[in-house]
Amino acid sequence: MRTFAVPSFPYSTRGLHMLNIVLFGPPGSGKGTQAALLLEKYGLKHLSTGDMLRAEKASGSELGNRVAEIMASGKLVSDDIVNEIVRSQVHAHHANVPGFIFDGYPRTIEQAKTLDGYLQEIGSGITACLFLDVPKAELVNRLLQRAHELGRADDTEVVIEERVIEYNTKTLPVADHYKAQAKLHMVDGLGSKDEIFGRLVALVDESLKTA
Ligand code: AP5
Ligand code: MG
Repeated sequence: MRTFAVPSFPYSTRGLHMLNIVLFGPPGSGKGTQAALLLEKYGLKHLSTGDMLRAEKASGSELGNRVAEIMASGKLVSDDIVNEIVRSQVHAHHANVPGFIFDGYPRTIEQAKTLDGYLQEIGSGITACLFLDVPKAELVNRLLQRAHELGRADDTEVVIEERVIEYNTKTLPVADHYKAQAKLHMVDGLGSKDEIFGRLVALVDESLKTA
C-alpha cells in the first residue's frame, strides 16, 4: 500500500481554498486509474459519474433502470440526470473534504457551466483540468483488454466506437471551456501508470504553488 504525505487542509488554490481537479480524457485514457492514485495522495473526494451511474444500475433503482439502456449503447446520459447527481454530492461533502476529483464529468459544455455554478455556490471553483492525451488505437486496446479482465458491459468494439464518437462530438469541446479559463493542462497519457501519475502530480503541485 502506498503512503503519501497529504498536504495540509485547507488548500489555498487561486484563493478558493479547495483543490478541485477535473480529470479529462477519452474513454480508456486512464481517468479512473489515475483518480485512485491522486485521491490517495491529496485526500480528495472522488466523484466519478460513470461509477455512480453503474452503482444506480446495479442497485436496480428507478434511476438505474432509466439510464441502463443509454449506458449500454455508449451514448451520454442526459445533462439533467448527471448534474443532479453531482450537485447532491458536492453539497453533501464539500465541508468535509479538501477538494474533489471529477472523473468523467463534465462531459458537455452544459455540464461544465453547471459545475462552475455549483462550485461558485460554495465559494470555490476548478483548480485545474488535467487532460490525459492517448491515441485512439491505444484506447481501444486498453478497453478490449479490460473487457477480458473485468467484463464491463460497454467494453465491446461497437460500443467503444460509439463512446469515442460521443466523446469527440460532445465532450472534447469542454477542453476549450477550461482553456479559456487558463486551467487546461495537456498530459501525455502514454507510459506506465506511475510515469503518468508523476506527470499529474507535478502539475497539481505547480497549481498549488502558484495559487
Ligand atoms: P465512464 O465510466 O466515465 O466511462 P469512460 O469515460 O468511457 O471511461 P472509462 O471508465 O472506460 O475509462 P477511464 O478513462 O476511466 O480509464 P481507466 O482508468 O478505467 O462512463 C460510462 C458511461 O456512463 C458513459 O458512456 C455514459 O453513458 C455514462 N456517463 C458517465 N458520466 C457521464 C456524464 N458526465 N454525462 C453523461 N453520461 C455519463 O483505464 C482503462 C483501462 O486501461 C483499465 O483496464 C486500466 O487498467 C488500463 N490502463 C490505465 N492506465 C494505463 C496505462 N498507463 N497503460 C496501460 N493500461 C492502462
Ligand atoms: Mg473510468
